[in-house]
Amino acid sequence: GAPIEVDLAPIADGQIIKVFWRSKPIFIFHRTQKEIDEAKNVDVATLPDPESDAQRTKPGHEPWLVVIGICTHLGCIPIAHEGEYHGWFCPCHGSQYDTAGRIRKGPAPKNLVLPPYQFVSDTKIRIG
Ligand code: FES
Repeated sequence: GAPIEVDLAPIADGQIIKVFWRSKPIFIFHRTQKEIDEAKNVDVATLPDPESDAQRTKPGHEPWLVVIGICTHLGCIPIAHEGEYHGWFCPCHGSQYDTAGRIRKGPAPKNLVLPPYQFVSDTKIRIG
């Protein structure tokens, strides 16, 4: 599949949008400062799949989280802005992801996967 470009300018603070790339749902999350702080104020060593917030975002673009929207348990599409950790909740078996898309609770073994992407300007990304 070809890369896609997504204009970030219309995505409001706190909003999560879904686009499709290679038939996969991709969530793009414009995180508020509170949501960024929640992601950073975690002891990474306590996480099931330890990754820092900086490993999950691009330098200089920390409000933006881009993840493949497929639960790493058995492949359901998790629901945005649900669950105890304010990221995603998977309705199939209850996995909960945080505002960095990291697994926090439930049967999923891994964080939501990051697709290959880059910023082509301050308000545009290319996925793929
Ligand atoms: Fe998401 Fe099982 S597929 S918790």
